[in-house]
Amino acid sequence: MFLRSFLLFSFVCFYTGLDNGVRGLECKRNLNDPDQVFATLTVIPPPRQNRQENFTITKKYGKRYTSIQAAIDDIPVDNDRWIKILLYIGHYKEKIEVTKSCILLQGKIAEKTVIEFGDHREEENHKDTRQSATFTSNADNFVAKHITFVNTHNYNLYGRGTSRHRYRSGNDVTQAVAAVINGDKSAFYYCGFLGVQDTLFDDNGRHYFKNCFIEGAVDFIMGNGQSIYDNCKIRVLGREEDGGGVGYITAQKRSSDEESSGFVFKGGAVEGTGKAWLGRAWGSHARVIFSGTHFDNIIIPQGWWPWNFLNDTQKHFTYTDQNCTGKGNDTSKRQYNTILTEMQIQQFTNLSYIDAEGWISKQAGQPNY
Ligand SMILES: *[C@@H]1O[C@H](CO)[C@@H](O)[C@H](O)[C@H]1NC(C)=O
Ligand SMILES: *[C@@H]1O[C@H](CO)[C@@H](O)[C@H](O)[C@H]1NC(C)=O
Ligand SMILES: *[C@@H]1O[C@H](CO)[C@@H](O)[C@H](O)[C@H]1NC(C)=O
Ligand SMILES: *[C@@H]1O[C@H](CO)[C@@H](O)[C@H](O)[C@H]1NC(C)=O
Ligand SMILES: *[C@@H]1O[C@H](CO)[C@@H](O)[C@H](O)[C@H]1NC(C)=O
Repeated sequence: MFLRSFLLFSFVCFYTGLDNGVRGLECKRNLNDPDQVFATLTVIPPPRQNRQENFTITKKYGKRYTSIQAAIDDIPVDNDRWIKILLYIGHYKEKIEVTKSCILLQGKIAEKTVIEFGDHREEENHKDTRQSATFTSNADNFVAKHITFVNTHNYNLYGRGTSRHRYRSGNDVTQAVAAVINGDKSAFYYCGFLGVQDTLFDDNGRHYFKNCFIEGAVDFIMGNGQSIYDNCKIRVLGREEDGGGVGYITAQKRSSDEESSGFVFKGGAVEGTGKAWLGRAWGSHARVIFSGTHFDNIIIPQGWWPWNFLNDTQKHFTYTDQNCTGKGNDTSKRQYNTILTEMQIQQFTNLSYIDAEGWISKQAGQPNY
């Protein structure tokens, strides 16, 4: 196959036999390419392909695929060079798993480059929350730009406007993940994550989200990732009018002092149509920091809910919102609020929290997000 032979041509890395890409790897960059990639695989969604029968393949775009998974499958398991998978505008109705390292997945405009599927957690069929995901990234060194990830189970993507009838707003909402991010060194620029419950499963590893949009109602940014959300917009979908209860923005899962994980929101905004807790503790040592974020008037004044750790005599959470603006920024009624010094806050909001060795600036697709 074209790509396989192309890549094997000057292959230098030993095959490691790992299923999910090569761990601890620094991907090679092609310094002669503006995006620093060695090859571009172009994916065109089926309807568009029909309309564009006469689309001619130019050398520049390499091989053409009709599904994103087919392009991923065509990359060697032990890939160690940046490869771009370029998505044409359109809706890709597929469930995707990234198992190869060094992939740059790039759309054109997030609003119009959409990956959607509608699975949900089904205990009776042994399908857990993780398996409900539309998009799963299990490999290190992954970058996505200008793409929207959607789980349509609770969510009508084709509904209009911001009406609450666009999504399940009563008590029949179930866990339905748009994206599980489980590799280390993963970055997302101008991406959207749409769902209602468990939208973004920020599972494990160090992650950087910049200028992203995340929507949901319940635990919609959850997991044990070590992440900075830089200038992201978070939108709470209200459900109270339909008896669905208040929202929970985060459910962070850090479970001991030794774990370095945490969700750090730097700047950006929280808005929406329903009241929400900033977080509830999925792990005993949950860590969530909002710094310099604009809060609309939708934040529950107490801020943080201990959830399963309500009866623990000692609370080990690191929960704080400092230097935030907007009508929801009054911290006087917050519970379990941790006061951090300006210096401590800086240690978390500085990129070095997730990027001591500078991996972000060495990824493909930099710096023209
Ligand atoms: C493709 O090209 C042929 C011949 O030029 C033309 O008859 C046909 O209508 C074109 N198809 C589309 C979808 O544009
Ligand atoms: C407070 O937040 C603003 C952005 O809203 C930021 O520019 C400023 O540096 C922050 N100050 C501190 C002390 O963190
Ligand atoms: C906390 O204790 C109360 C009273 O014993 C009990 O009703 C409740 O279920 C406990 N909550 C949790 C989260 O364990
Ligand atoms: C809340 O935001 C206002 C500006 O919107 C600011 O003056 C005030 O200091 C903020 N309060 C807190 C507790 O950060
Ligand atoms: C961020 O951390 C780096 C490395 O520790 C340091 O050089 C830099 O001054 C820090 N930036 C800020 C704004 O604190």
